[in-house]
Amino acid sequence: METIQLTPSENDIFNGLEGPVMQKVMASVVMYGNAMGARKLIPITGKLHSVLSCGARMLDPVYEILQELVDAGIKTKAPFTVDPRPMDYENMQYSFAEKLLARFLFSKQNRLESQIRRLGLRDANAFTCACYLPEVGNVPDPGDILCWSESSAVVYVNSILGARSNRNSALIELFCNILGKAPCYGLLTDDGRKADWLIEVNTPVLPEPQLLGSAIGLKIFEGVPLIRGLKPLFDSNPECNVNDYLKDMGASCAASGAVGLYHIEGLTPEAMREKNGILREDHNHYAIDDRELAGVKASYPVLWKNKNRKPKMCIIGCPHLSFHQVLDWKSRIIEALKKKHRKRVSVGTFLCTAPDVVNTFNNDRAAAAELKRAGMTLTTVCPLTYMNNPLSALKPVVTNSGKLRTYTTARYYDNDEILHLITT
Ligand code: F3S
Repeated sequence: METIQLTPSENDIFNGLEGPVMQKVMASVVMYGNAMGARKLIPITGKLHSVLSCGARMLDPVYEILQELVDAGIKTKAPFTVDPRPMDYENMQYSFAEKLLARFLFSKQNRLESQIRRLGLRDANAFTCACYLPEVGNVPDPGDILCWSESSAVVYVNSILGARSNRNSALIELFCNILGKAPCYGLLTDDGRKADWLIEVNTPVLPEPQLLGSAIGLKIFEGVPLIRGLKPLFDSNPECNVNDYLKDMGASCAASGAVGLYHIEGLTPEAMREKNGILREDHNHYAIDDRELAGVKASYPVLWKNKNRKPKMCIIGCPHLSFHQVLDWKSRIIEALKKKHRKRVSVGTFLCTAPDVVNTFNNDRAAAAELKRAGMTLTTVCPLTYMNNPLSALKPVVTNSGKLRTYTTARYYDNDEILHLITT
């Protein structure tokens, strides 16, 4: 079997010239690269991000590895952002028992945060999966080589920004960002980025992004789709924020399947540059219409014990909302409340977003007060890890997120249904 060919300086690290810990880092990356069929390492040229944000108590081997790195004085090549925290005791809804259990489940949070700070965490506001938003500022450039793991972020930067990252795992991501090198395979190569599926969207109006993403992910699982038919729908909906739409569609696609990259005909960078050349000749074909989407939605299991329970919480923002989406949800909800002569939502509504977005939003005190008065709360939590708490999982939570629905007991409703549910 062919294996990775190292350069002389990489070989020095491999042979321990930079110390035993760096030697292990390099050996791990090489083993991983060999398993994935890589033949060389290539320099990471773009921003760094990590998924190591959850101080779960059963991850001791991970904290031991991180401590070894810290003790050896090792850092990533540049500062990195990290996924959201699993808890937000100030802003999320917890019963006494839930909070107690969360403190137990995530009892290694302080240890983890102290370790990632020493390894190169950007700053105290770096906790978000949507680090690629301009308001957060960890934005890769087109063509940048990255080594990220967060599936919703990988699919965004690959597809919309034209940067290049495989879907990695937490420690491999960190090791590569320490070395400044990543194994070259899959989505880092021109060939690995070609579309092997042609998806035709045949709906009269723009479909729900999360539902469309879910349909694609469930059908093609790990393939690379070229999506036809979305661009004209965007053109006829000038009020739609295309990047926000694609952020949510991509995250759902990546959660229902393992999609790390999609192309949109006439829109995304590589589809624009390469036109039909982006599509493999022997591609598969999948047509999506309203009937297909309704079938996908109907196939979602409802994991609530009592399916007729009234929702207790509504969670919007997995992946984290952009600033524009926070404003948009706030005005849509307040508008709907006004129409129904109501002042507050009937279900506690939590809008999950980045710390930088929360700060920007709260600078406008009147808007922040209005949001609070209407019964909405901004939180920086990762709702998925919040719902990993078995007590939180028992609550009837509704969401518009395909990813949250996939991994938790949260029940999916589309945006209009959510709006109706929480304002009635
Ligand atoms: Fe982000 Fe957590 Fe959802 S990391 S994509 S909010 S699962």
